[in-house]
Amino acid sequence: QPDFAADAPLVGKHVIVTAGPTHEPIDPVRVIANRSSGKQGFAIAGALARLGARVTLVAGPVALATPAGVTRRDVETASEMQRAVDDALPADAAVLVAAVADWRVEAASHKLKKADGPPRLDWAANPDILAGLAADPRRPKLLIGFAAETENVEAEAEAKRTRKGADWIVANDVSGDVMGGERNEVHLVTAEGIEHWERMDKSEVARRLARRIADVIGGGGR
Ligand code: CTP
Ligand code: CA
Repeated sequence: QPDFAADAPLVGKHVIVTAGPTHEPIDPVRVIANRSSGKQGFAIAGALARLGARVTLVAGPVALATPAGVTRRDVETASEMQRAVDDALPADAAVLVAAVADWRVEAASHKLKKADGPPRLDWAANPDILAGLAADPRRPKLLIGFAAETENVEAEAEAKRTRKGADWIVANDVSGDVMGGERNEVHLVTAEGIEHWERMDKSEVARRLARRIADVIGGGGR
């Protein structure tokens, strides 16, 4: 709990955060994964908790400590992540930072052997957690997605925002050394337009975003 109730505008609010990659099994020892350290999502979960929110952090496989005051649900696959998000509803806001694998394969129950040659993988589409939440009758009031892009960052992000039914997209330019690093350069894409945030620590991105979330769903604060 924060030290000063006056500076805890999110007391009584529930926010769901997804973070990290998902792992889709190929066989008992191999997975398909996205690249994500989970650092930005974990920082956001912690920043929201420091503003007084009840935070459910649905985490893919990452090597990170749980931020203080945050309830963590560990998952492995996109389907498990979707179920955990669904179980955590209702929420006042959701911040989907996770790098969800877009596809899964039919996993073999036994270990594939190298000598048998490269396997043929039978791909299927994973559920889109963000689009699903946007269409859900229990849709959180404020729905925020992340988009890691390497080119046409702003246009891609705005297209994603409307296509997926999110209120905001935090667009991440990952053409540099953002992945796994401590700093991030983001653009906040909303219906009102695009804000460019200068390159800053992921913890500072988290603090600013948490403040902005509190401006929308917070209980008036100080
Ligand atoms: N997302 C999700 N479920 C998925 C895929 C993505 O909830 N199966 C969420 C991510 O957590 C993120 C947002 O959707 O908040 C954007 O993810 P991104 O991968 O950039 O979007 P896609 O629609 O999958 O487009 P792309 O082809 O660029 O991967
Ligand atoms: Ca994707």
